[in-house]
Amino acid sequence: MRNTFGLTFLVGHFHIQLLVDEDPGLVGNLLVERLVGAHVDLVSKEEYGKIGSVALADLLKKKLLEEGRKPYIIPVGGSNSLGTWGYIEAAREIEHQIQISGDVRFDDIVVACGSGGTIAGLALGSNLSSLKAKVHAFSVCDDPEYFYDYVQGLIDGLHSGLDSHDLVSIENAKGLGYAMNTAEELKFVKDVATATGIVLDPVYSGKAAYGMLKDMAAKPAKWEGRKILFVHTGGLLGLYDKVDELSSLSGSWRRMDLEESVPCKEGTGCNQASRYSP
Ligand SMILES: Cc1ncc(COP(=O)(O)O)c(C=O)c1O
Repeated sequence: MRNTFGLTFLVGHFHIQLLVDEDPGLVGNLLVERLVGAHVDLVSKEEYGKIGSVALADLLKKKLLEEGRKPYIIPVGGSNSLGTWGYIEAAREIEHQIQISGDVRFDDIVVACGSGGTIAGLALGSNLSSLKAKVHAFSVCDDPEYFYDYVQGLIDGLHSGLDSHDLVSIENAKGLGYAMNTAEELKFVKDVATATGIVLDPVYSGKAAYGMLKDMAAKPAKWEGRKILFVHTGGLLGLYDKVDELSSLSGSWRRMDLEESVPCKEGTGCNQASRYSP
């Protein structure tokens, strides 16, 4: 599991606290994060459960200060009241795009929820703007009640005076657990990619879209006739952590039979076998 729960930015460096016991290696997004200079501090699930992300991030901050660094703590998912502004701005951008694209209107916005900041910002932004679309969150880890409370804290921090239950509807889509997928979920990601060219990540938007379609099948009256904007929140590097499970689903291939009589076309880069050998 590579649940990033604390980020501490330095000048040109950043530290990530990771919820594992051993170095997981350059898997998933860790390859890119380490390429750009991330230092990883590992803790076990037991330590995380016992101490909690806030105290652990504080401890890391203290250590870095002692090392003469200037840390800035970003909580899990960037989900504090300040971070909420990111998706308030995203709602403003959606509103702007709708205004310039003419006659488009959305009744609902659907998005994944992992730590709560995205839905808090989108829901508040939708409420404050002309969008007024209802935000539907599909949770990929904790239960809906946890997120109603968490989002309440975030929007209280912005003095919104609103109730999270009125702003957002949260459904559970965590399935097997955070970053764990059933075979059906991965097949769904593959089928959407093949049918539309849109690649969903398996941890967030893949689970949310899968949950949304299940909810539509279970409660057709809730969704019938509604115009829905699904927000894909990225995270494609997470696919590389599923290579083994996805390989049997993804694209067929075959060795191309080359008859010896196929002639080389002079001047088209052929007869250069040495280029491809050491
Ligand atoms: C790719 C991606 N999508 C969605 C989310 C969920 O957003 P939030 O944590 O704000 O609920 C995250 C969180 O880390 C993410 O990395």
